[in-house]
Amino acid sequence: MSTPNPNDGPISTDAPVVPTGGDSVQDLHRAQMAQMNDPVMLTADGVDDNPEGHDEAGAGGSDSVQGMHGVLMREQAEPRDGFEPVPFWVAIVCGALLMWGGYYIGANSADFRADVFDEANPVATPVVGAAPEPDPQTVEELKAIGSKKYAAICAACHLPEGVGKPAENIPPLDGSNWVSGDQAAAPRLARIVLYGLKGPIEVKSPVVSKTSWGVAAMPAHSEQLKDYEIASVLIYVRNTWSNKADPDDKKPAITTAIVRAARTKDGKRDSVTAAELLDKFPRDYADPPAPKK
Ligand code: HEC
Repeated sequence: MSTPNPNDGPISTDAPVVPTGGDSVQDLHRAQMAQMNDPVMLTADGVDDNPEGHDEAGAGGSDSVQGMHGVLMREQAEPRDGFEPVPFWVAIVCGALLMWGGYYIGANSADFRADVFDEANPVATPVVGAAPEPDPQTVEELKAIGSKKYAAICAACHLPEGVGKPAENIPPLDGSNWVSGDQAAAPRLARIVLYGLKGPIEVKSPVVSKTSWGVAAMPAHSEQLKDYEIASVLIYVRNTWSNKADPDDKKPAITTAIVRAARTKDGKRDSVTAAELLDKFPRDYADPPAPKK
């Protein structure tokens, strides 16, 4: 037997029933929706909190599905993209950071110029500020540097005229036998200025009658003065006032190398005494030369 045509004859009882009238889909839904919108059903605890049924403004009243959704949506507004105004202080901070960044790059660019920089051939530029120390060679060059150092440091005690302060037990340098006379020697003078001098000392000078000193002490200058500055200040005192100890401009008796040799040999140490200078450093004594820096 062939498949029966559904249009033939009466509707088979197995076929889905399409309810009509009171059983239609619309009617069924209507009943459901009436139930859902039932005020009592819609309260959380199943108790009608609005028994009079006063509807609030808005679709569906307070107890309708829409009303409930309305409440929820008021509670938690949907987040949304927007153009909220940027807080004033954030704008200020960003502006300040931008300005600082610009200043920092400008101040630390080491005068970089993209139009001049040659990536293929970078030239090692000498570090600015690491200028080489002056290297005075002649008596004139040494004296020029020494006169400034003397005025700045030594003159406070030995006075600009080199006469010392006998009343304060500071001996003279002008005419002193330790500076340009029979006790003058480069390793001794270098040590007096490097490490300072204390204890009794005989200083003979035509400018001051007093010869025995030793009540006051001379401070060390090894931290304050560089080797070339100590050589310079000593050449200055040896060739100023009545002192004429280095007549040959090309052959200063005290050089940077001699002071460096003394500093290298002795390292850090206490003040020297006249007795030690006389004993350990005879006038022909020479320190072993220090390697050049
Ligand atoms: C704070 C004071 C003071 C300063 C600064 C000072 N001296 Fe002296 N100097 C003395 C005293 C005091 C003596 C003597 C020390 C002693 O009696 O043992 C002396 C002794 C000397 C001597 C050996 C004695 C002589 O009269 O010839 C020489 C050289 C000398 N000073 C050079 C210098 C030079 C160069 C400087 C600068 C770098 C200097 N002094 C800075 C106080 C000072």
